Amino acid sequence: MKIAIIGSTGQLGTDLVKTLRARHEVISLTHQDLEVTDYNSCLILKKHHPDIIINTAALHKTDQCEDEPLRAFSVNAIGAKNIATISKEIQATATFISTDYVFDGSKKEPYTEEDVPNPINTYGISKLAGELFTKQNPKHYILRVSSLFGVAGASGKGGNFVETIITKARKKEPLSVVDDMWMTPTYTKDAARIMQEIIEKRLPFGIYHGSNQGRCTWFQFAQEIMRLAGQNPTLKPIETSQQQTKARRPAFSPLISTKLPAYGIQARKWKEALADYMIEKEHLNWTGIT
Ligand SMILES: NC(=O)c1ccc[n+]([C@@H]2O[C@H](COP(=O)([O-])OP(=O)(O)OC[C@H]3O[C@@H](n4cnc5c(N)ncnc54)[C@H](OP(=O)(O)O)[C@@H]3O)[C@@H](O)[C@H]2O)c1
Repeated sequence: MKIAIIGSTGQLGTDLVKTLRARHEVISLTHQDLEVTDYNSCLILKKHHPDIIINTAALHKTDQCEDEPLRAFSVNAIGAKNIATISKEIQATATFISTDYVFDGSKKEPYTEEDVPNPINTYGISKLAGELFTKQNPKHYILRVSSLFGVAGASGKGGNFVETIITKARKKEPLSVVDDMWMTPTYTKDAARIMQEIIEKRLPFGIYHGSNQGRCTWFQFAQEIMRLAGQNPTLKPIETSQQQTKARRPAFSPLISTKLPAYGIQARKWKEALADYMIEKEHLNWTGIT
């Protein structure tokens, strides 16, 4: 298959390129190659005429989206509309990467593909709009992922949570991390593999949850990072209410897929994925492993 990847140098984009190029013709499109907010710029897709377009481009700094709602909607929603329109014209499949932040966090069990979105911040609202625009092309996949960490680091966020924690720990900076906000950390390598299987197994079009398995708070995530890195900084659990942030965030947004196991697609547990990431980044301290 010929697969175009938008945002190919991003955290997830990098792993999608690595994973898919082994078996497919991959067209890597950087931000310089294609601006999703600009329909004319997106016309480059017609020249390449791919079978599948994967759109990873986003404005995903959650607080920035509150300050810049127009920009958030321009990238996350209008960008998705441009891709849906062009992909439909060339009979390509539109694939949109979405987020756990389309949910409000009021559920007590992980969110499935059947749960009704109800975003509580601008980022989530703009990504849900992106999902709806993507559906304008009946040939679509929407892959929701959460709390990504990948070797390339998120370009918009200047790294990822794992790298932030390790850097601060090495500097012996005391760390305060929220312990009342639950999510599923997800390795971009694993999300890319799930995307690959969805495409190759030609799953029915629709929404899929592509996170790793399990759940934890950000504090528990930080604890596991420290354990694997063999670091022992002062790590303090705090409550969300102790942090001043512009955007509200869902208190509970772990994802689970009730659809993928039927096709033999199973994500790893997040702790296994994290250990793999730490090996790849050479952060692992073997003496820290029990
Ligand atoms: N990061 C997370 O924790 C997380 C969680 C849930 C869902 N997601 C979703 O997962 C996807 C991938 O996230 P990521 O962490 O891989 O993000 P990332 O590292 O920031 O990658 C995004 C890529 O898109 C490009 N891009 C940004 N704006 C663009 C635009 N207007 N037109 C074209 N390209 C543009 C960026 O290029 P430049 O850097 O050169 O601008 C970058 O290469 C996003 O859709 C995001 O909403 C992320």
